[in-house]
Amino acid sequence: SKEGYDHFLIKEIYEQPRVLREVISIKHNNYVINLPLEGSLSLEELKNINKIYITACGTAFHAGEAGKYAIENLAKIPVISEIASEFRYKNMFVDDKSLVVFVSQSGETADTLAALRKAKAIGAKTLAITNVVGSSISREADKVVYCYAGPEISVASTKAYTTQVISLYFLAMDIALKLKEITQYQVKDIIQNMEKIPSQIEEILKHKDEFKKIANSIKDAKSIFYTGRSLDYITAKEGALKLKEISYIHTEAFPSGELKHGSIALIEEGTPVISVATQSSILEKTISNNQELLARGATVISIAEEKNKFIKDSSDVIIEIPDTIDLLTPLLAVIPEQLIAYYASVLLGNDVDKPRNLAKSVTVE
Ligand code: M6R
Repeated sequence: SKEGYDHFLIKEIYEQPRVLREVISIKHNNYVINLPLEGSLSLEELKNINKIYITACGTAFHAGEAGKYAIENLAKIPVISEIASEFRYKNMFVDDKSLVVFVSQSGETADTLAALRKAKAIGAKTLAITNVVGSSISREADKVVYCYAGPEISVASTKAYTTQVISLYFLAMDIALKLKEITQYQVKDIIQNMEKIPSQIEEILKHKDEFKKIANSIKDAKSIFYTGRSLDYITAKEGALKLKEISYIHTEAFPSGELKHGSIALIEEGTPVISVATQSSILEKTISNNQELLARGATVISIAEEKNKFIKDSSDVIIEIPDTIDLLTPLLAVIPEQLIAYYASVLLGNDVDKPRNLAKSVTVE
């Protein structure tokens, strides 16, 4: 049931603090990573792997890309990410020394399942990150990591995304630790920062009226753009997908630096641009991109950490999120995006939980 909420979507957005608290506590014991045997790789297995792939569809793919970032940065292994419907038809050079990670809330997505069957047929090691126990993908993969998001009813995925990111980060830390690329001390530090995330999300949720106002100001736009670099680009893609699928407004995400290679031609007076600006090492670059956008008339709405208040100077509107470490910013920056999408959909009178033309679980190709 909706438990007093108007829609499943808003209920599921609000469930995130509780659900994340639970999933984080399941995945470690006093800061010692606690992945069940069926969901972790032994050192021996890791030594037999020389390539890691991540594949998925839609929002699950965005979580996968955050997972790629974590594995590359913590375990220092390059990871190839590809959309499942591409993965299954391309030569990805997968072999019996590959690990392929599949991310799927439902565990039933046709293209992800087909990609899994293909990888298995080649003899690769397969690992599923999924929310649904007993789903096809959970049954067929060699290893399974569960997300513990609880049932997600709304077509637009929210708590599944944040729990997928957490699950992938634990997998990344586990691999990195076993390969001695990070120390137990670093793991503890990351988990301690992660433990602050649920109450930081609660902080963000308190500002719902601010997000409603922003949604109202952009709901009649012809196009809305999302920009960001590195991890922020992943959050930008997730924000663009969330808004378009339930508001039906055309949205697109661009890597900040790619704007001037074509897309900036679309910026007109008043075009809303949501600039995800959290990654501290590249903030200066993002600011100069924002200034270019402002100069061309865009309305720049920045999502930035409190510590980076100076981003105000290159934004029309600033959405502050609490301070965290760079790795964890996707978990916070996505929350305003989810709420803006929700309110835009409500204000436009759309069927919020069941947007047109979409299904919760895409079991056809
Ligand atoms: O069940 P899955 O995680 O495999 O589903 C993948 C996508 O269909 C899904 O994430 C879709 O993009 C969502 N509707 C986005 O909100």
